[in-house]
Amino acid sequence: MRTHYCGQINTEHLDQTVTLCGWVHRRRDHGGVIFLDLRDREGLVQIVCDPDSPETFRTAESLRNEYVVRVTGTVRRRPAGTENPNLPTGEIEVLCRELEVLNAAAPLPFQLDETNLSETVRLTHRVIDLRRPAMQANLLLRYRTARAFRRFLDAHGFVDIETPMLTRSTPEGARDYLVPSRVHPGHFYALPQSPQLFKQMLMVSGFDRYYQITKCFRDEDLRADRQPEFTQVDIETSFMTEAQITALAEAMIREVFAEALGVRLPDPFPRLSYAEAMARFGSDKPDLRVKLELTDVTDAVRDVAFKVFSGPANSGGLVMALRIPGGAQLTRGEIDEYTKFVGIYGAKGLAYIKVNDASRPDETGLQSPIVKNLHEQALRAILERTGAQSGDLIFFGADKPKVVYDALGALRTKIGHEKGFLTGADWAPVWITDFPMFEYDEEEKRWTALHHPFTSPKDEDLERLESDPGSVRAKAYDLALNGWEIGGGSVRIHREEVQRRVFAVLGIGEEEARAKFGFLLDALKYGAPPHGGLAFGLDRIVAMMARAESIRDVIAFPKTQRAQCLLTHAPSPVDEKQLRELHIRLRIEPEKPAKNA
Ligand code: AMO
Ligand code: AMP
Repeated sequence: MRTHYCGQINTEHLDQTVTLCGWVHRRRDHGGVIFLDLRDREGLVQIVCDPDSPETFRTAESLRNEYVVRVTGTVRRRPAGTENPNLPTGEIEVLCRELEVLNAAAPLPFQLDETNLSETVRLTHRVIDLRRPAMQANLLLRYRTARAFRRFLDAHGFVDIETPMLTRSTPEGARDYLVPSRVHPGHFYALPQSPQLFKQMLMVSGFDRYYQITKCFRDEDLRADRQPEFTQVDIETSFMTEAQITALAEAMIREVFAEALGVRLPDPFPRLSYAEAMARFGSDKPDLRVKLELTDVTDAVRDVAFKVFSGPANSGGLVMALRIPGGAQLTRGEIDEYTKFVGIYGAKGLAYIKVNDASRPDETGLQSPIVKNLHEQALRAILERTGAQSGDLIFFGADKPKVVYDALGALRTKIGHEKGFLTGADWAPVWITDFPMFEYDEEEKRWTALHHPFTSPKDEDLERLESDPGSVRAKAYDLALNGWEIGGGSVRIHREEVQRRVFAVLGIGEEEARAKFGFLLDALKYGAPPHGGLAFGLDRIVAMMARAESIRDVIAFPKTQRAQCLLTHAPSPVDEKQLRELHIRLRIEPEKPAKNA
């Protein structure tokens, strides 16, 4: 029906006759001449309809926004002074000779160039929302990114193998989405939280290098960077070490950014151990664009009178400091706002010291309600370790380690961006390595796996597996980018005996292990090769590339924060007949279906 895309016409096509199809983006009547901006996937082009062709002119007068039309005309240079430098097609226009209306459009629920639209409106009318040039660009970027991943992996001998969607519960730690079985009353499939166990079994089967760009399903609390169904670039290899796997993954990410976005990432990516990342940044996905760092002062405040500090310092907690250069300028209101902010992470307060004169570590040089309860030796140590200068401010967190890390880690990033303590780098990737193998769950009083239970402990830590699980490190690695975890993985356990010992530490008995993971334990028995891999979150990577605030902006049909699809109204109640076939009786009346916004 057409010869070109609207957005691709330029001075190379001067004097040619072209036929274009698209949507009327805008119509402007200029006393006797009608201008149309015609839009398709590739962009906009200006169409001129003049009264010399009365029939096309009459049709042009009848056009409304978003009508679908077909235009045939001649490409000509725009008159001098009327070019539009902001538009790739801005030097030319198409003088219309034939104009055909292919379809009319009802008035839209909103205009495509409207800003500040609520997300409810956008998701309810997603078809229209996706017409907006920014959303078209996002989804095309997503396509180019996925294509770049495939190209790299294909070129490196990885084969794309599909794994089941209707499967058993997989242990990534979130809640499962369940699917009832009609044929087996009372039995359920689980949608995979990742292909983890299947990709490991493919290694045992001898496929050597596997990848898949696939959906994963996790029923967890949703946030800007989390969706109930999301896409992983999932990878597994045999006969490669941790160093080789991360080197390959790093080369891949560098190539993907170059190809899809034209960006050169640093080479090599910096690496931090988990312990160092927590100690310096309070996070295992630190935003390294921010220059501020944390300082541990726990041992310096063990014997101070200020109970807020000495309490945690003497009972397994932490006291950490965050120095803000020039922070003595912060207003009361700003400090109150930051105090409220750290509350989100469970901090009970946000003590601070204004350093008026760094050479006087007492009440004359330091301004703060807490100074009188800290002795001079402690104050000296705090100033020295944080490197505080006159004019700075020091914030403190004192609590259980998790609360202190979360609160000060988040505050570091917030103040860093708000007050401009930035390195100037646009992209700051960083590998986090040497994760602890286990985490102690205080509530349930048991060890849990920090990654997943198939992650291999470091060889040199294996002997402490039972005697001191907390000290065992894993062959696990994450890649963080600008403060988001974009991928992670590990070398796996490939010996059945080690897998059993890890299950035992996790309190998974022989019987339970057999019932839940018997198929994996069996696979490990029959000559499992050393193997490992990782998975990248495609939605997060594209969202960062697109500078989108939420991954919802790079997913064609996402769910809301409450896991609903406003377009199709999923989830929805089902017929009694369907329930009966599935042998299900509801314990509650279904909620009334959500009203269309
Ligand atoms: P993990 O659970 O770390 O590892 O997931 C890998 C990556 O997937 C992304 N991601 C998400 N993105 C959007 N919404 C979510 N709800 C969500 N959850 C995770 C993150 C994360 O880094 N099987 C292991 C991988 C392996 O060991 O090979 C796994 O799934 O970017
Ligand atoms: P209070 O003794 O409760 O008046 O607190 C004195 C100062 O310590 C205030 O600035 C509080 O914000 C701060 N503070 C209280 N609890 C904590 C905590 N757990 N960590 C850091 N600062 C705290």
